[in-house]
Amino acid sequence: MRTLLAWLIDVRGHHRLTVDPAATNARAIHVYEKLGFRPVGVLREYEHVADGSWRDALLMELLAADFVRT
Ligand SMILES: CC(C)(COP(=O)(O)OP(=O)(O)OC[C@H]1O[C@@H](n2cnc3c(N)ncnc32)[C@H](O)[C@@H]1OP(=O)(O)O)[C@@H](O)C(=O)NCCC(=O)NCCS
Repeated sequence: MRTLLAWLIDVRGHHRLTVDPAATNARAIHVYEKLGFRPVGVLREYEHVADGSWRDALLMELLAADFVRT
């Protein structure tokens, strides 16, 4: 993920990136926070899952200047 972010920012010129992990995916959210992403808010009933229910996601954003490179 760190390699991808470096490429998107340094090579492709993106200044702002977002991710939308499942709100219950604490491991992924922790990893994104370590890279510099900050939580924006909960996207309610965002994904339709196999059992027919909906699940929430967490919208997270990263500005290029916030990217934790190491
Ligand atoms: C998300 C994922 C890619 C992270 O894998 P990884 O880069 O190998 O991450 P690591 O296992 O090295 O590190 C996980 C970190 O989360 C932490 N962690 C593990 N379980 C956790 C939990 N339940 N709650 C909070 N943090 C947790 C670990 O302590 C570790 O943090 P640390 O480095 O500060 O000690 C991996 O869990 C995965 O493939 N998950 C399934 C697919 C997925 O969920 N993808 C993301 C979709 S948005």
